Amino acid sequence: MRTWTLRGTTTSYVVGVPDHGQWAQLVAWGPHDGLAPVVVAGTEHFVPRADVEPLEYAVRGIRYTVPVDLVVSGPGGSDELRPTLTNSTQPPQRLELEFVDEVRAVRIVLHYRMVGDVVERWVAVRNDGPDELVLHRHDSAGFVVPGGNTVKYLWGEWNSEFQQASVTLPRGRFTIGSAQGITGHSYSPYLVVDDDVAYGVQLAWSGSWEMSADVDTTGLVRIQAGRTSSSLGITLKPGGTWVSPKAVGACSAEGTDGLARVIHDYERAASRKRVPKVLYNSWFATEFEIRADHQLELARRAAGIGVETFVVDDGWFVGRSDDTGGLGDWEVDPAKFPGGLDAFIGQLKEIGLDFGLWVEPESVSPTSQLAREHPEWILRTPGRDPILIRNQLLLDLSRDDVAEFIWSTLDRLLSTYDISYLKWDANRPRLDSGDQRRDLDGRVVGNLYRILEKLRDRHPEVSVEGCAGGGARVDLAMASRVDTLWPSDNTAPLDRLRIQEGFRTGFAPHLMSSWVTDAEGTHDGRERSFDFRFHVAMAGVLGIGADLSRWTDDQLKTAARHIEQYKGFRELIAESKVYGLSAGVQYVGADRSVVFLWETGDGNMRGTLPTRPRQVPLAGVDPAKNYRVGNETYPGSYLLQVGIPFDGPADSHCLVVEQLD
Ligand code: DGJ
Repeated sequence: MRTWTLRGTTTSYVVGVPDHGQWAQLVAWGPHDGLAPVVVAGTEHFVPRADVEPLEYAVRGIRYTVPVDLVVSGPGGSDELRPTLTNSTQPPQRLELEFVDEVRAVRIVLHYRMVGDVVERWVAVRNDGPDELVLHRHDSAGFVVPGGNTVKYLWGEWNSEFQQASVTLPRGRFTIGSAQGITGHSYSPYLVVDDDVAYGVQLAWSGSWEMSADVDTTGLVRIQAGRTSSSLGITLKPGGTWVSPKAVGACSAEGTDGLARVIHDYERAASRKRVPKVLYNSWFATEFEIRADHQLELARRAAGIGVETFVVDDGWFVGRSDDTGGLGDWEVDPAKFPGGLDAFIGQLKEIGLDFGLWVEPESVSPTSQLAREHPEWILRTPGRDPILIRNQLLLDLSRDDVAEFIWSTLDRLLSTYDISYLKWDANRPRLDSGDQRRDLDGRVVGNLYRILEKLRDRHPEVSVEGCAGGGARVDLAMASRVDTLWPSDNTAPLDRLRIQEGFRTGFAPHLMSSWVTDAEGTHDGRERSFDFRFHVAMAGVLGIGADLSRWTDDQLKTAARHIEQYKGFRELIAESKVYGLSAGVQYVGADRSVVFLWETGDGNMRGTLPTRPRQVPLAGVDPAKNYRVGNETYPGSYLLQVGIPFDGPADSHCLVVEQLD
């Protein structure tokens, strides 16, 4: 067997191709000093050998009775390929393995890239033959997981995204995905197998997708990740190449929490380095009832407590007095901004605020002028009425003229007005299938990515927040193209905390947009203190979304104090290693940590029952060094083993832990 090693910071990924050259298989994956080979001993019965080996990429025609990653049909009705290795190249931190099926003249290249401890994988399929081919299944990768059968995943719905759950799979298959043309509220493209060492896979795709964990009869887990096939598949013309999105895999000997740290590093490396600015967003305060003078009133209060960017959300454009109209007609409503948007922005600047604007460029209201002028731009299945969701339709972003319209709309807004921040929303799934002979999902998502990339390129000073009716478009592909992501419309303290804990397992704190509001919980309505609510939002990119005219002077003063404290450590939050604690979370920087502790149970805050004092052991400190926490000094070893006290009456704490020597 020929083998190739991708050596990461602390882990290695070893791929081999047996002498017959028919497939690549996983040889080992794990920490450098704990690499155990993945071996399948014994004899297979009634199945080909490929069906029991730990295949890296399983092609129908090589593998038959267990799940495959690629199914390609051609003329004559066959859907089998029998490729063999023809070439391999290994530039630094990369690997390319090329397999060719001589009969069909199909070339399959498996691509690998090691970034930190993350293995990026994708596949390119090229049709070198004379006939049209159809890809019916087209995964990005299959990741064999050397051990474990507890499969963790994130499920959700609107207002309740990123809920953590797990299944134990002694044998069999577990599948999640989205058929919504968008990443979706229902599941995150994320699966983790966590027993001793945690292995995780994420898919960088913002359209429809599917991920499965399959435990075969030998007990080996294999995770497949890829775009969902449409019922007619993807057509590959002679000479054409299809490239899958990336799937990434990583492992950590420190379980799911450690795996998140590996992924966070990877996401940070793919992000622009920005100081997370404190923003105010008017949505929860005013919804569609936007009036420039009232917005300014809110802005003055926001500026007074230290906010830096004022974002006007939905409702600023013509025809948008509720969610039934306006989308597509991206002109400032003169009734709402009688002096014009420029004058409004000028007034914000005078009080020291930058300006941000909400847009939902992919959608169109049926009553809009755009819908009347360009009915052909509306996505529909031929011969059928388009499906209306939240009173809106989608533009057919697979069309280049629509992509050009969206780009030029954004470019015009950003070039006309002094805009520093864009909140890009998307409030419905893509359900209309259009003409199934086209790769609608691929074209729409490809155009979306091209616009986001051009936005970065042409307007680099503008920060972009990705939002989709809450957290329906949170994935690695978006994480590398926007600056922050909105996890959920649920901002109530205890609900939000749970959502953020799930978010953190796959997405880094510099991406996590989080606002303080006065919202009541959907799931857990128990009240929490003002400090608690701030501390939850300070654990990410802090924003304020409450109606500030309702906050008392005392609350405004407390808010100002929290914002000032946040500004003192926000870069640490954005760049740190994050550790989950028994009652909170710790952001560990070079010589400082920020610790948030939250009382989430119904507890014994008033001390009316006998309880033992609670201590919260910390993480990520050096046992041989001393640390200051508030007015106390502790040895690192004590902080790691015993921890810091956390008892009532406060229901949350924000502590800075400073290394002394
Ligand atoms: C859904 C978003 O998640 C909200 O924050 C808000 O922007 C509304 N859309 C506006 O319609």
